[in-house]
Amino acid sequence: MRVLLTGGAGYIGSHIAVVLLEEGHDVIVIDDFSNSHPEAVRRVEELSGRPVIRIDCDLADLDASSRALADVEFDSVIHLAGLKSIGESVSRPSSYYRTNIVATLNILDIMAIKDVRRFVFSSSATVYGTPDSPVIDESHPVGRGLTNPYGWSKWMNEQIIRDVQHARPELEVSLLRYFNPVGAHPSGQIGESPSGTPNNLMPYVAQVAAGTRDRVSVFGDSYATPDGTGVRDYIHIMDLAEGHLAALAHLSPGVTVYNLGTGVGHSVLELIREFSAQSGREIPYRVTAPRTGDVSSAIADPAKANSELGWRATRSLADSCRDSWLWQSQNPQGLTGQG
Ligand code: WQD
Repeated sequence: MRVLLTGGAGYIGSHIAVVLLEEGHDVIVIDDFSNSHPEAVRRVEELSGRPVIRIDCDLADLDASSRALADVEFDSVIHLAGLKSIGESVSRPSSYYRTNIVATLNILDIMAIKDVRRFVFSSSATVYGTPDSPVIDESHPVGRGLTNPYGWSKWMNEQIIRDVQHARPELEVSLLRYFNPVGAHPSGQIGESPSGTPNNLMPYVAQVAAGTRDRVSVFGDSYATPDGTGVRDYIHIMDLAEGHLAALAHLSPGVTVYNLGTGVGHSVLELIREFSAQSGREIPYRVTAPRTGDVSSAIADPAKANSELGWRATRSLADSCRDSWLWQSQNPQGLTGQG
């Protein structure tokens, strides 16, 4: 297949690119590098030993994207391009709605013009809002009690995609709801490279382990969980990437939703302990007030993806911490200033 990866230079996109290339697919990356780095694409080529077509363009700009893709052949799209910080989305709502929704509208329009029918969308467990139960399957209500523009934009995108598929019945769509992607490629060559202060737990813990930050703030320890700290389903980025390959292989006309998670929950303190064990570093922390909008527990029920996609997460939290530590220690400044 010839797969267009929108936002393909990002954390998730670069790992998907490696997996696709290693499977023999051709990869085209379109990215504006507002939250990623061209060096990631170079490293993907180095890791896979295969070339990537790289298009520097903002997908939210329809004219520029249409021109950039006019003569590019592809038969499938994995759409990842978008802003993804929950906290930032609260302070910059119009940017989030504009970028995340317009980019989706544009790629769908371009696909219609080029008669491309295969579409995998990077959605998120945030569309479930505050879950009714700690373990969540795809039948759980969505678009209810969402607490931030990022989550709303993902939910709105899912609705837009459903409506477009209704108008284009030949469209084959998979909506992949990620739980908590963590870790890095086992080579340590690509990984999560957040700009500024990491919003997410794993990259923050990695920076504390590396000594570039003093300690982890544990956002609350009075949740109804075994040790009182938040519980999440941390899925290794390589398992997540392989889930996209499986979704591509199982596309059919219509819209199908899959949770991509391990089905196992781990608390903040468990992750801190595991990271310390894998890195051999002390990881100081202090308990602070809960973060607004956080839920107590969010764990995927991945049974549908397991059975219908023939895909299952196989890597453990220890694997994720080990690989995240290798990436962090080999790239203390991430990808900025490299290449
Ligand atoms: C995990 C746990 C925090 C930071 C979000 C999005 C999700 C996906 C991943 C994009 C929680 C606690 C965190 C810290 C802490 N993003 N924590 N100290 O909020 O579960 O998920 O990011 O797709 O869609 O919803 O991830 O890593 O921010 O938090 O105690 O410095 O760690 O309270 O319990 P989250 P997270």
